[in-house]
Amino acid sequence: MCGIVGYLGSKKTLQVLLDGLRRLEYRGYDSAGISIGARGKEIKNIKSVGKIAALAQAIGNQEIDGDFGIAHTRWATHGGVTEKNAHPHHDCKKNIFLAHNGIIENYRELRAKLLEEGHKFYSETDTEVLAHLIEKFFSGNLENAVISALKLVKGSYGLAVIAKDDPEKIVVAKNSSPILIGMGNDEYLVASDASAILDHTKEVVYLNDGEIAVITLQGVEFTNLANQKLDKKKEVLEWNISEAQKGGYPHFMIKEIFEQADSIKNSLAGRLMVKEGNAKLGGIENIAEKLRDIDRLIITGCGTAYLAGLVGEFMLEEYAGIPVEVEMASELRYRKPVLDKNTALLCISQSGETIDTLVALREAKMKGLPTMGVVNVVGSTIARETEAGIYNHIGPEVSVASTKAFTSQLTILSLLTLFLGRQRQMSLVTGQRIAKELNALPKLIQKVLEQEPEIKKLAKKYYKSNNFLFIGRKYNYPVALEGALKLKEISYMNAQGCAAGETKHGPIAMIDKDFPTFAIAPKDSVYEKMISNIEEIKARGGSILAIATQGDKEIAKITKDVIYIPKTLEMLTPILSVIPLQIFAYHCAALRGYDVDKPRNLAKSVTVE
Ligand code: G6P
Repeated sequence: MCGIVGYLGSKKTLQVLLDGLRRLEYRGYDSAGISIGARGKEIKNIKSVGKIAALAQAIGNQEIDGDFGIAHTRWATHGGVTEKNAHPHHDCKKNIFLAHNGIIENYRELRAKLLEEGHKFYSETDTEVLAHLIEKFFSGNLENAVISALKLVKGSYGLAVIAKDDPEKIVVAKNSSPILIGMGNDEYLVASDASAILDHTKEVVYLNDGEIAVITLQGVEFTNLANQKLDKKKEVLEWNISEAQKGGYPHFMIKEIFEQADSIKNSLAGRLMVKEGNAKLGGIENIAEKLRDIDRLIITGCGTAYLAGLVGEFMLEEYAGIPVEVEMASELRYRKPVLDKNTALLCISQSGETIDTLVALREAKMKGLPTMGVVNVVGSTIARETEAGIYNHIGPEVSVASTKAFTSQLTILSLLTLFLGRQRQMSLVTGQRIAKELNALPKLIQKVLEQEPEIKKLAKKYYKSNNFLFIGRKYNYPVALEGALKLKEISYMNAQGCAAGETKHGPIAMIDKDFPTFAIAPKDSVYEKMISNIEEIKARGGSILAIATQGDKEIAKITKDVIYIPKTLEMLTPILSVIPLQIFAYHCAALRGYDVDKPRNLAKSVTVE
């Protein structure tokens, strides 16, 4: 997602910051900026849209070097990709400058109050409120002002702040967004990710949630929001740059799989209204009235995004009572679907650039349909061309095989189900139940991720198979399709997904002892039927790997190869059940020695026909 670098020391600050930003380029970003200060001087702030090279060009020959500074690469979440929205952000007096990763959930309330108090805002970002809030409390000591401001903030942040009137100091804070301090020889660095500072030092201190670091030339002091001093230990990193970019993981795909507890938290942040049993979706407020009147929804997308749409269909029909059709964009664009004025189109696309999805969108727009997007890349073409939309807020997905985007798309579709359901027939109690279960998801995802060693063992047992069948029913039928898609995309094994009830109408003919089946069988409304389908396969000599609900003893009698997932609402089980399939596919591909992040013949974003 976004990246932060900070520097206080005797090297050339501008150079250290620009080099650090270049080290963070792999994370993906759309704009960048730099703020550099020197005792007794104004802080210089230069920002630009596009690559670091564009920022370096904007800086040109300007004399902007100084003694302390911060820099940022932005991946837009709130507000478009513009120079004004790029970080670092500043207060009214251009005293305070800050770089922020994360999302300030209560920024609307804070902004309204600060506006009333006379603060002037120049950007559309949630971050800018932090600069004004710190300004409000600033009376010469930066850390005190930062602490007072953060006590009013709800949300996630990795934060680096400097002030003209409290120079040669960087104040750093953390809540749910990683940030670390690099401890060099008489120099200190700040980074959201170790790869930005490894050229200078390998000794680092990671901040925990609620902790503050105050960096001056005399050293670093660690405190918490209650202003208590903390004693923190240095760690020595043994990573090289490329390992650090992947957070120590061997591939982006497994890093992104492990990010899912956090990415789902980010997709939900500021949107879930547990008490009201509803969702606040700012990006579709402009068409909320039109949505109340629709009597049909068409969901479209490609690949994994299309499969997310299938789960969405089941959620929306069951809980919002809206008839839904899901169609691959590559088919929809060439057909003549019956469209009337009460039909809306929802496009799902991680990149927001997939050509088939885009053309389907343009067709629908031409026919006058209200259009929405579920898109990850802010400012992408589909995001711009849809009338309304909901961003995933999960940061860039680098690996070609989509993982964290899929679970986030399902999360957003659940939020949309809440919103559209509550506009219609859904009761407050049902809304509250869904919202409560959604809120609990990040913790449950963590539990699934903890089973990676067991899943890896299964991969070791099965990675030499040439064929694989994936079966599931109802909500987990699309998960079976996604499990098969993941496996074939990166391990090139012949994998087929199938609705479990359809197995006996064809696919079961392929089953023998060398043709294993992954059965997704959580304890839900179709559990008994799934057990029968599993028995049918077993009776033909096929081996079974199962995904089951924690505590299910019955399934362990049929097969020893079981991965357990925690219990959640039936409609949310796909968000948990797909994760073991992602991990399984990853390990099979890695064991087969393939380039997991860049599978042959595939592209991350298919923008040509
Ligand atoms: C490509 C990718 C898939 C992705 C699909 C749709 O085929 O390899 O992982 O699911 O495009 O991409 P989108 O960016 O529209 O979600």
